[in-house]
This record gives sequence, structure tokens and C-alpha cells, in this order.
Amino acid sequence: MSAQREPVGVIGVGWVGLVTAVCFAELGHEVVARDILADKVDSLARGETTIHEPGLEEMLRRNAERITFTTEMPELLERARLLFVCVDTPPTYSGDADLSRVRAVVDELPADSEHVLIMKSTVPAGTGHSIRRDRPGLPYVSCPEFLKEGTAVADFMDPDRVVIGADGGDEAAADAVAALYEPLPGETLRTDVASAEMIKLASNAFLATKISFINEIANVCEEVGADVGEVAAGMGLDERIGSSFLRAGIGYGGSCFPKDVKALKMLAGNTGYHFQLLNAVIEVNELQKRRVVGKLEQHLGSLLGKRIALLGLAFKPDTDDMREASSLVLAARLQGEGAEVVAYDPVASERAGELLDSVEMAGSALEALDGADAAVLVTEWREFAELDWSEAATRMGRALLVDGRNFLDPARLAEAGFEYEGIGKAPRGAPASASKS
Ligand code: UDX
Repeated sequence: MSAQREPVGVIGVGWVGLVTAVCFAELGHEVVARDILADKVDSLARGETTIHEPGLEEMLRRNAERITFTTEMPELLERARLLFVCVDTPPTYSGDADLSRVRAVVDELPADSEHVLIMKSTVPAGTGHSIRRDRPGLPYVSCPEFLKEGTAVADFMDPDRVVIGADGGDEAAADAVAALYEPLPGETLRTDVASAEMIKLASNAFLATKISFINEIANVCEEVGADVGEVAAGMGLDERIGSSFLRAGIGYGGSCFPKDVKALKMLAGNTGYHFQLLNAVIEVNELQKRRVVGKLEQHLGSLLGKRIALLGLAFKPDTDDMREASSLVLAARLQGEGAEVVAYDPVASERAGELLDSVEMAGSALEALDGADAAVLVTEWREFAELDWSEAATRMGRALLVDGRNFLDPARLAEAGFEYEGIGKAPRGAPASASKS
């Protein structure tokens, strides 16, 4: 068997693990994927994915014969030498990453193991060194993931870069990992373990900083009558700045940014370094989720007893992931002001329903808008762009929309009869006094 087609082991079949397993199978590898949850393993073995990720289920079914899902560690260890660790590392109460699942995996490897531990889970810088200290002789490679939910399969197959970190003595292990990624386009950066760990944390912290920065610019734009979309477009033309991640909105969420920014802040703090900038990034993001409430109050006065429709709940489109979604904070804040909240999301309603207390779930966007005093576009799902907004306006008690993602065309909404308000741009449409209420 050629080095490029070496079997691949995956430990932890969450979102990262499943994408990794399925994509390596697509590249022609035998894959053994192990998870401790028997239900999950059973449904994956039937070809049913446990997450909503475009293209993943088709790819899983296409490669089913090359992937084994199991709960058994011995089976994995027997069949694969290269082991990708993809278990989750959630934040603890102290804000540090919880490494207990990573430690449990290391403990399961036999003392004389000839396996290579490849860390894909996001871990604080220094984790690799500490594992190598505890398990001398166990080859260790850091290979962080940079996959975006919703485009994870495409990101895996066409990465901007692959980062492979290994320390002295583990070059052969790093070569084996590099060989796995060789068929893929994009740069491969070979570095040491601590630097690879930092690249992941620093990349996410930088992107989160970009978002909080443009959100603050948006807030200033509102004060001075500028349009943040125009400002971001003009800034983005500077190659040093770049145009991506300059979309103003109601804050970042998801399983990575909030966790990684906090983890980097804590990591620095634990070493005695006060990472001031990240404090601001986090605070701006928290406040940004709440700004919509003030915008609604400007139009409606007190929100007590007002019916507010949330369009979209997932932390971003094309996923049913509700982790750290801005909608959770927004719904609770609106309820805190006495509003009645109704919501619709094309795929996340079920997951959201488990998290959102006393929020009425509607079966469609129009149903959510029926009789509402205002709507907030929270997640930029494509179907909201295609909605019949004229029909929506007639159904609402008051056709007022706060576009939390600057996703819709203000002129079109105004034409449909809406008072439209985005983030960091001038309001459009009929003044409040011309409304039906
Ligand atoms: C992120 C990283 O992009 C990825 O490299 C990493 O490995 C995992 O975390 P993901 O969590 O899937 O990926 O989401 P991403 O598309 O990066 O968006 C994160 C959040 O930022 C979303 O809530 C999104 O709505 C928000 N965002 C993004 C903005 O508010 N403005 C932007 O310009 C871009």
C-alpha cells in the first residue's frame, strides 16, 4: 500500500471528525472512525449524518464501503496507525479549554503504541509539549482544522493552507501526515508544535477581531451618516486589509470563535500576560448582539407585549448549529423587555427549541411574521432573500424589519412597504408615523 493511501483513524466523530473521516475516504483511504456514543455510530453506519453539512451525507454514502464506524478503540488501533484526535475541547468555568477528552484518548493508547497522535482538536498552545512529556516516544503532530461550518467539505478539499507542526524526532510522523494531504491544493506549512497550536488560536482571534472592528465601525457609521457596506468595500480593496470578514452584523457566534478567543485570552492570562485587545473584541461582540433591542425600541417604544419575529436562529446559514448563536442572547433580551418572541429557522428550529424557553416556533417565515410588530433577520438564510416581502408586509401588524446581517436589499424592502433598518447604514422606508399600528 502506498504511503498516500495509508489507513486513517479518527477519534471523536463530531463535526470536525466526521468531515475529516468522510473526506479522507473520498481521497481513497480506508478510514476507521471511533466515537463513544453508540447511537451516533449506528446512524453513521446506516449512512445518516448526525449534523447538517452540505454535501457530507452524499459523500458519506458514496464512500461507505471505505469507512468503518465503531465504538471500539482496539479495532481502531489495530487497523490504523495515523490517529486524528477530533474530540471536543469546550471551555471550562475558568475559560480554559477542557482537555479531559483529549487526555482520555491519550490514556487509551497502549504504552508501547506505534501510533501517531495527530491533534486536530483545538488545544491551548503547550498541550502538545505536555502530552509529549507524559508520553515520550509517542509521535505527536499538530494539524489544526480551519474548516468553516456550511462549507466544511469544500474547505477540506480545497484548503487555503494545511499546517503541520512537529518537534524534533517526529519528522517521519509529520511526513506521513503531509503525505495524506498531498493530493490537495493549497500551501502546506511545516512548523513546530507550539507554533502550529498558536496559528490556529491566532487565526480565529484575528478573524473575530476583524468582525468586532467592523461592527464598531458600523456603530460609528450610524452616528455620522456613513454606510458600513461602502466603508468595508473601500477598505477591502487594500490588499493589506482584504475584503473578507468585514461584514457588519449582530456579532459572531458558533463553536469556534467565542471559545477560541476566550481560550487565547485565558492562555495569555495564565502566563501573566494581559491580552487587552481580546477583552475588547469579546465585549464588543456581546454588546453587538444587544443593539437590535435598542433599534426596535426607537421604532416601537416599549417592547412590553410586542410580538417580535426572529428570522433565522442558527449562528450562521447552512448549519443547524446553535452553539453561541446571537439569536439566543437576542431572544432572551427581548423577553427580558417583555416582548413575545416567535421564531423560524429553516433547519435549526428543533435544536433551537431545546434551548429557547417560551419562544414560539413557526413552520415558515411568513407564519412567523403573521401579526408581528417587527421582524429581525438574525441569520442570512438564502430563502429570506427570496421571500415575498410584499406579502410579508401585509401580514405583519407593523412592517418593520431590522436586518441584523445587512442581507436584504433596503430599496426592495422599502418598495414592499417596510420600514427597514440595517446595521451601520441609514434607515429606509416609511417613517414610524406612517405605519399601520
Ligand atoms: C470558524 C473559522 O472560520 C474556521 O476557520 C475555524 O476552524 C472554525 O471557526 P465557523 O465557526 O464555521 O468557522 O464560522 P465562520 O464562517 O468563520 O463565522 C463565524 C461567525 O462570524 C458567524 O457567526 C458569522 O455570522 C460571523 N461573521 C463572519 C460575521 O459576523 N461577519 C463576517 O464578516 C464573517
